[in-house]
Amino acid sequence: MSDDFAYSDNWASNWAPIYEKFNSIRGRVAEADVTAAFLERYCSGGSALELGIGDGRVAVPLSERGVIVEGIDNSDTMLKLLGKRTDLVKAWKGDMANFSTEQRYNLVYCAYNTLMVLVTREAQISCLRSAAEALHDEGTLVLELLMPVIDGFVGGQKTTTTLVDHENTFVTTDIHDPLNQNLVSTLLWFSGTSVRRLPYRVRYVYHQELDTMAECVGLKLAERWGDWTGGEFTEGSKRHISVYRRAGS
Ligand SMILES: C[S@@+](CC[C@H](N)C(=O)[O-])C[C@H]1O[C@@H](n2cnc3c(N)ncnc32)[C@H](O)[C@@H]1O
Repeated sequence: MSDDFAYSDNWASNWAPIYEKFNSIRGRVAEADVTAAFLERYCSGGSALELGIGDGRVAVPLSERGVIVEGIDNSDTMLKLLGKRTDLVKAWKGDMANFSTEQRYNLVYCAYNTLMVLVTREAQISCLRSAAEALHDEGTLVLELLMPVIDGFVGGQKTTTTLVDHENTFVTTDIHDPLNQNLVSTLLWFSGTSVRRLPYRVRYVYHQELDTMAECVGLKLAERWGDWTGGEFTEGSKRHISVYRRAGS
């Protein structure tokens, strides 16, 4: 399998030129303010660390609310996009699967399914361990993850039309690797006469497995929401916002 599927600078150089447009079409740019308002509740007047900070979609509005925001990303390309956008947010190149920092934060967060870019269970747990160590004693970890939809696969594969508007068609192809809970996917983005091919690989994780992984590193679920506006988490939820604190705090 080509390395294009792994999240690396290869991945980022594919996505970076279209990242903001893509997020805007998917409603993720419009959602950034409500996401920052949600996160501010856990770090008002304090500090926050974003894992996989990207172009600062969430970090920038959070920093504009007076929070000291820092971030980690493993892509120079994404860090350059962030640097062009703000000098309020300090970010460094690193692997969120295994990082350590002297600084302790009121909030560590990982939005937009980014934990799933770590494609093994071990890497995901190691990330949660690093995040837990970076928290103040009373600190909070917030994770946003989609609810996996593992239906409709025939022979281990499926193709889904995820968006059609007057200008764009998004078609996603997924190959399922159930032993590793991996999806090896490609987004095909048709627009006018052009088509972009955007490969990626993720490890999906259900909310209860996430709670167990968090418990392995001394964290306990405190709250779970269905979206950033604080909507209820139900069996119809397409994603969850999960809030963890140190067990016993
Ligand atoms: C889906 S984007 C999310 C960006 C941002 N958090 C947001 O909500 O818009 C995932 C980001 O994680 C970064 N990334 C992927 N693997 C990483 C790793 N192992 N360590 C740190 N950052 C990583 C990518 O470069 C990318 O910027």
